[in-house]
Amino acid sequence: MKLKDKVAIITGGTSGIGKATARLFAEEGASLVITGRRSDLGKTVEAECKAKGVRCVFVEADHTRAEDCQRVVDIALAEFGRIDILFNNAGIVTSGTADTTSEEIWNDTLNINVTAVWRMCKIVIPQMKKQGRGVIVNNGSDWSVVAGKNAFPYIMSKGAVGMMTKAMAIDYAREGIRVNAVCPGDTFVDRWTEKGYFEGSGAVTKEEAMKESSEYIPMGRFGKPEEIASAVLFLASGDSTFVTGHLLLVDGGNTAQ
Ligand SMILES: NC(=O)c1ccc[n+]([C@@H]2O[C@H](COP(=O)([O-])OP(=O)(O)OC[C@H]3O[C@@H](n4cnc5c(N)ncnc54)[C@H](OP(=O)(O)O)[C@@H]3O)[C@@H](O)[C@H]2O)c1
Repeated sequence: MKLKDKVAIITGGTSGIGKATARLFAEEGASLVITGRRSDLGKTVEAECKAKGVRCVFVEADHTRAEDCQRVVDIALAEFGRIDILFNNAGIVTSGTADTTSEEIWNDTLNINVTAVWRMCKIVIPQMKKQGRGVIVNNGSDWSVVAGKNAFPYIMSKGAVGMMTKAMAIDYAREGIRVNAVCPGDTFVDRWTEKGYFEGSGAVTKEEAMKESSEYIPMGRFGKPEEIASAVLFLASGDSTFVTGHLLLVDGGNTAQ
């Protein structure tokens, strides 16, 4: 019960890494506010977490909207009275190169992957200052520290998450607020099997994806959402009290190459 009596907001808790983190945080005793736009999925995660014996509220929210971000925090405070942990997880994957990226894709990517992270921090940090403590974990990527092909807007956004994490860690270190990023390598989530998720691709089976990854990831497989959630728990819990401004790579050795 590493998060007993802690209150956590998890943005984008409807699927993938956010859902796995919500489940793990619930097992560790946290009270939870989870968010996302797909309320059917969000309600299911809420029920799963409650079944583990903790309080959990799903808030339907689009974090590209400032008013939705504020509403999420207001609900968290009204329900639980404090915010100990903010996991800025909501994000989208986009592809393209500098010259093929449209204004629309650029703005869509920045709005959720960068601006929403800053906005949630901006709203939550005053409360954490008041409390004299708090932990923020941002979801970056291995592309927060290295680049790759044909993912220009996404890489640019995740690079920004990395520097935002470091800058905030320095600014709030003396206020008892730790800010770190988990930086997952390729992690198999359900959405990957959806048709068209990867530009120009059809539906991808888990087996096909796993086969492809065995060629370039040193550990020979994609990560699992639960493995990223474990790293988030480390950064969010009392196991990492002297860790701030850190980008924790969880990538099967991908960036060691
Ligand atoms: N999977 C990987 O290989 C990998 C690697 C590195 C980093 N990451 C990062 O991990 C994070 C989670 O992604 P995932 O892989 O778990 O994929 P996912 O299953 O697609 O999860 C994305 C989550 O973000 C939410 N979201 C997206 N746009 C939103 C918006 N405008 N407002 C509110 N919520 C929004 C989605 O909820 P709704 O659709 O319900 O709104 C969903 O819960 C992302 O930041 C991603 O960049 C993933």
